[in-house]
Amino acid sequence: LASDHVRIVEVGPRDGLQNEKKSISKETKLELIKKLAGTGVTTIEAGSFVPAKWVPQMASTSEICEQLLTTPPPSQHTIAYNYLVPNIKGLESLVKIMDATGVPADATGIDSKAATTTEVSLFAAATEAFSKANTNCTIAESLERIKPTVALAKTKNIRVRGYVSVALGCPYEGPDVSPAKVADITATLLEMGADEVSVADTTGMGTAPRTMELLQALKAAGIANTDLALHFHDTYGQALVNTLVGLEHGIRIFDSSVGGLGGCPYSKGATGNVSTEDLIHTVHSLGMHTGVSLEKMSRIGSWISEELGRVNDSRAGKATLSR
Ligand code: HMG
Ligand code: MG
Repeated sequence: LASDHVRIVEVGPRDGLQNEKKSISKETKLELIKKLAGTGVTTIEAGSFVPAKWVPQMASTSEICEQLLTTPPPSQHTIAYNYLVPNIKGLESLVKIMDATGVPADATGIDSKAATTTEVSLFAAATEAFSKANTNCTIAESLERIKPTVALAKTKNIRVRGYVSVALGCPYEGPDVSPAKVADITATLLEMGADEVSVADTTGMGTAPRTMELLQALKAAGIANTDLALHFHDTYGQALVNTLVGLEHGIRIFDSSVGGLGGCPYSKGATGNVSTEDLIHTVHSLGMHTGVSLEKMSRIGSWISEELGRVNDSRAGKATLSR
C-alpha cells in the first residue's frame, strides 16, 4: 500500500443491515452489494453465516454468497467479498457453497482483472461480558474456537480477518477496557494466521487520547500497522476524530458503512459504523486516496436509507447530493 492510500472495508451489508428492524429482502441486499461494488471499493462484507435465531437479518447469506460467487463483479477490479463466521460450522457452510460453485477463494489462475475473491471474518471480544453476550462463551473459549476455523480457512486459501470487539469500551464493563488485553488478543489472532485484525470500537466510547493509548499498546506488543484495521462506530460522534488519530499513527485500513447503517444487537444504544461517505470525505480532504467515488457512495447512502425507511446518517453524503 502506498502511504497515502487508504483501503476502505465497506461493512454496510453486514454490520449495517444485521441490526435493522425492518426485514430486508435478499434482492435489496444484492442490489446494495452490486451498487457498492461499482463505487471503487475493493472489500465488501456481504453477510454472515450465523444461526438465524441469533441474527435474523443475515438469514439469506447463503443465497447471496452463491449469487456473488457465480456473477462477475460490476467493477473493473477484483472485489473481495467477506463473510462473518462465528465458528467452524459457519465456515463449513461457506466452504460448501464455494465447493459447489467451483469458484476458488483467491483470484489465482483467473484471467480477468475483475474477479471475485472470498474472505472471512472471525471475531473475539476484549471483555468477558461481551464475549458471553455475543458468542455465548469466554474469551479463551472463543479463541479456541477460532484456531481450527482459521486453519480450515487457510487450507481453502481463504483470507482471514480477525475482529477484536469492545476494544475501546464495553456496554457491560464500561469504557476502561485494557489496551494490553486488546493487544494480547490481536497478537493471538495474528499468530493463529489471521491476515489482518480489525480493532473495533463497538460502542463508540473511544476518544482521541484513548485511541492513541490503544495504538501505542498495539505497537508496544510488536504489531505492525499493516496488520491492523480500525472499525469505529459513531455513537458519540468521535469516529472521525479517532480515525484521524489512526491515520496519523499510520493505520491505512478503515471499516465503514454506507449511510452510517447499523448498530450492534449486543450493544444497546450503539449507532451505526462511521459512514463511508464521511470517511471518504475526511480522507480525501487530507490529500490521501481511497479510489472510491464520494458521489456514487452518497447516492447509495440516500437510496438504501430510503429503502429502509431510516434517516440517512451521513452528513457528507447529504451535503454532496445537495451541491
Ligand atoms: P450457541 O447457541 O452457543 O451455539 O451460539 P451452539 O454451538 O450451542 O449451537 C446452537 C445451535 O445453533 C445448533 O443447532 C447449532 O447447530 C446451530 P440446533 O442443534 O439447536 O438445531 N449453529 C449454527 N447454525 C448456523 N450457523 C452457524 C451455527 N453455529 C451453531 N454458524 C454462536 C454460538 C457463536 C453460534 C452464536 O453465539 C452466534 O452466532 N453469535 C454471533 C452473533 C453475531 O452475529 N453477532 C453480531 C456480529 S459481531 C459484530 O457485529 C461486531 C463487529 O462488527 C465488530 C464490532 O463492532 O465490535 C464484527
Ligand atoms: Mg461493528
